[in-house]
Amino acid sequence: MKINTAEFVVSNSEVAKCPNEPLPEYAFIGRSNVGKSSLINMLTNRNSLAKTSGRPGKTQLINHFKINENWYLVDLPGYGYARVSKSTKEVFQKFITDYFERREQLVCAFVLVDIRHEAQKIDLEFINYLGEAEVPFCIIFTKADKISKGKAQQHIAAYQKKVIENGWEEMPQHFVTSSTEATGRDEVLAFIEEVNDGIFKNQGFI
Ligand code: GTP
Ligand code: MG
Repeated sequence: MKINTAEFVVSNSEVAKCPNEPLPEYAFIGRSNVGKSSLINMLTNRNSLAKTSGRPGKTQLINHFKINENWYLVDLPGYGYARVSKSTKEVFQKFITDYFERREQLVCAFVLVDIRHEAQKIDLEFINYLGEAEVPFCIIFTKADKISKGKAQQHIAAYQKKVIENGWEEMPQHFVTSSTEATGRDEVLAFIEEVNDGIFKNQGFI
């Protein structure tokens, strides 16, 4: 898919104030610093559309980016960032869970995990939460430039094992990406295009 336009629309912490249009959206979630905002920039081919930082906790709100005038990418705050005070963390969690449970436009969540690390409890808990909330999701492995292809395959196999031990019948659809090298860009965009095509053909989206 060609990205013709990509524009920031709105940031907020209330699901009710998210754009009120019947357009499909795809949300990026995962631990702080995993590369959610960088991936949005890589996919849209815009250097600084979403704000990134080497320090975790950069994205603090729900950010809507309108793509090609007819669908959205949504950048979310990370979870599991210990240095955020407990009360702030609870607020994050509430509006993040509100988003996943109430946002009718959400068609797929991308759960990002750093390909260098073993499956973390918080990520496994989060995918179980999405399963219970009946939110469709894919897994996106990030920062693939940081390890060899062989190691990446080993880590994906280990991750798959953990996901299955955690009660899933099979590994969810997944992608391997690097925002610095644009790895996985075509695959993720092709997936989105296919889902969008299905939705646009079917008049009764929401
Ligand atoms: P929060 O908003 O804090 O939750 O973080 P985030 O998940 O949005 O991460 P962000 O995109 O801000 O990236 C965090 C850091 O990782 C930055 O220093 C990025 O440059 C770096 N980074 C992100 N993706 C990649 C990647 O694919 N490869 C490499 N080498 N670095 C990356
Ligand atoms: Mg971010």
